Amino acid sequence: MSEQIIIRTDGNYDELNTYLENKGVKRIFLVCDSSIGFLGINSFFKSLENIYVTRFSDFEPNPLYESVVKGVDTFNNGKCDCIIVVGGGSAIDVAKCIKLYSPMDKSKNYLEQEIVPNDIPFIAVPTTAGTGSEATRFAVIYYRGEKQSVTDISCIPDAVLMDSSVLDTLPIYQRKATMLDALCHSVESFWSVNSNDESKKYSKKALEMIIGNMDSYLMNDKDGNTAMMEGAHLAGKAINITQTTAAHAMCYKLTSLYKIAHGHAAALCLPVLWEYMLSNIDKCIDSRGKEYLKTVFDDIAEVLGCDTPIKAVEKLKAIIKSLELPIPTANDKDFEILKTSVNPVRLKNNPVALDTDAIDEIYHKILNTK
Ligand SMILES: [Fe+2]
Repeated sequence: MSEQIIIRTDGNYDELNTYLENKGVKRIFLVCDSSIGFLGINSFFKSLENIYVTRFSDFEPNPLYESVVKGVDTFNNGKCDCIIVVGGGSAIDVAKCIKLYSPMDKSKNYLEQEIVPNDIPFIAVPTTAGTGSEATRFAVIYYRGEKQSVTDISCIPDAVLMDSSVLDTLPIYQRKATMLDALCHSVESFWSVNSNDESKKYSKKALEMIIGNMDSYLMNDKDGNTAMMEGAHLAGKAINITQTTAAHAMCYKLTSLYKIAHGHAAALCLPVLWEYMLSNIDKCIDSRGKEYLKTVFDDIAEVLGCDTPIKAVEKLKAIIKSLELPIPTANDKDFEILKTSVNPVRLKNNPVALDTDAIDEIYHKILNTK
């Protein structure tokens, strides 16, 4: 696959227009969520004269397989020759699946068919600085209530329009939560057992950018927004190599039980998980060994501007506290659900082994109790 093209802008779409012209695009399939109504890029699509645009918004957060099927039908019926997605993680996941499934046999379940790469031009316009989904080969959809991970290198967008103007109207809770998602991606990728020199280069740079520009981004400053978008994208490139670890594996049930945002939930888990790992480093499962893992923890602490990992844990906790995000309150029944909610197979990327007791202990430290 050729290198992903990055078009950086702040509300000017001339370069995107040229890209579409060069690709000979005639019929755009535009996957978009409701945020597009607030964005300047909406006018760009309305102003196109020689390109027909079919819009598709018939999907939900945590998108269903059935929504993707509708999207594939609409794409094929409209004889579209390009997919553009404007939205957050869910919209990008839907668009990725439509790209992968559109040439497949519609009489059979797409999830059971072999993915054959296709060359439909695919452009992502992320509307948050968070998921990094525009840089990854992963998509998540739900089929009969079960989470399905769709993974293929050919669903990585050919081009990304990094338009920092889209962040101007981002609501504050989403602004905080998506930033925290990117922060977790950068830290988790850094310590993942799957890390390599390339991924660590991305995760280190991402973490530097996220920490260094957090204040200005939270104040909706233009430079802060631009830098946070860049940081979130780099964190996406890092997890594209390593995948995420236990903080993400543990956050999904918090999201569904307490209806909090994904990044909010992951960030509640991150420092408590790190604290646990520091006390249990003998349970290191990274094949590079526990001395290696100690150096990684030191490196992460250094990027966070701290002398020791313990101080870095405290710093992360202080950052999250300063954002004034609510901490859910759990009862005994919740803890029973939570401790068995994490699939042990999904913890294999985590550098320190976690059993059910460890997971229960961590959840008790994260949540308030009744
Ligand atoms: Fe995430």
